[in-house]
Amino acid sequence: MQTLHLKVDPDNPNHKIIEIAAALIREGETVAFPTETVYGVGANGLDEKAVKRVFEAKRRPLDNPLLMHVMSWEQASSLVTGIREEVLLLVDRFWPGPLTLVAPANDRVPRVVTAGLSTVGLRMPDHRVALDLIKAAGVPVAATSANLSGRPSPTSAQHVIRDLNGRIAGILSAGTTGWGIESTILDVTRTPFTILRPGAVSRERLEEVLPGMIKAARPWTEVGGRLRAAHYRPDARVIPVKPGDKLAELAQAEAAKGKRVGVVVATQQELPTLADFVVVINGGPAEYGRRLYEIFREADSRKIEYLFMEIPEEKGLGVAVADRIYEAARR
Ligand code: TXA
Ligand code: MG
Repeated sequence: MQTLHLKVDPDNPNHKIIEIAAALIREGETVAFPTETVYGVGANGLDEKAVKRVFEAKRRPLDNPLLMHVMSWEQASSLVTGIREEVLLLVDRFWPGPLTLVAPANDRVPRVVTAGLSTVGLRMPDHRVALDLIKAAGVPVAATSANLSGRPSPTSAQHVIRDLNGRIAGILSAGTTGWGIESTILDVTRTPFTILRPGAVSRERLEEVLPGMIKAARPWTEVGGRLRAAHYRPDARVIPVKPGDKLAELAQAEAAKGKRVGVVVATQQELPTLADFVVVINGGPAEYGRRLYEIFREADSRKIEYLFMEIPEEKGLGVAVADRIYEAARR
């Protein structure tokens, strides 16, 4: 398949180019597009055959549901039933934005989107290109991160091209994404509302709106059985290191044995002299989140064997960053 490359200005996308991508969606094809978190790839969410193409393009197992990407709460509410009143407060505060709401699906939602579940994830991205695309397509867009299954989420158009060129009909490219880690997924079908995947909207920010109503289900992997959000693991063995631990010493010991070693430090003062790949994060968890997947990709391409990663303080956005690191370290 020939992938159509459509370049747009992220802040002011040319509507003729958006219309080309929207026409592809209406015709049942797959299109990749930027969001404020990571790049997504999607298709007409009301067309079962089109949705199946998304799974095929990224080789995603059919039992892992997609998210319905919408351009308004009105469009979202046409896909669900039995929404609790408090949910509207979250929508008011966080939409458009990186908060995905898992709610009871109605029968307009094809079962292939939800992988047969009775619930559907609703997401309204805070990105002009994504919103213009969904608007122009005139349908909700069932989408997922635009990586091949088993690869890290793409934070640039280049990443998408590397993974999906020739496998999707089109790509709207508009530079790098903002947050770099995925949306927070909140299950609002039961109280307290439960965070299924920590993400760009922190638990603290949710609790500002709904005090005492947000549960952070830890460990995340025990939530909903098979529905645990599947994360990426790089080829390197990831070793999480607490800020107070001696990262340089641990890394140096492996390097001295002839291993290819990478280190990612945020507060540590000392760097191992023998490391093959060194990343210093100066800008706190926000910068860490933005660069995380690029670091994983880079470690893979440099054939790093041991990647020592300092864990950020686990509050606010640091929770989501730490979650991705711990998950990358699981074997
Ligand atoms: O920021 C994001 O959320 C990005 C951008 C592209 O929107 N999307 C994204 O999609 O990360 P994906 O498919 O890579 O991750 C969505 C996660 C999956 O782990 C899936 O299992 C889970 O959400 N999920 C989808 N529907 C669900 C549901 N009804 N209940 C529980 N988990 C669900
Ligand atoms: Mg994904």
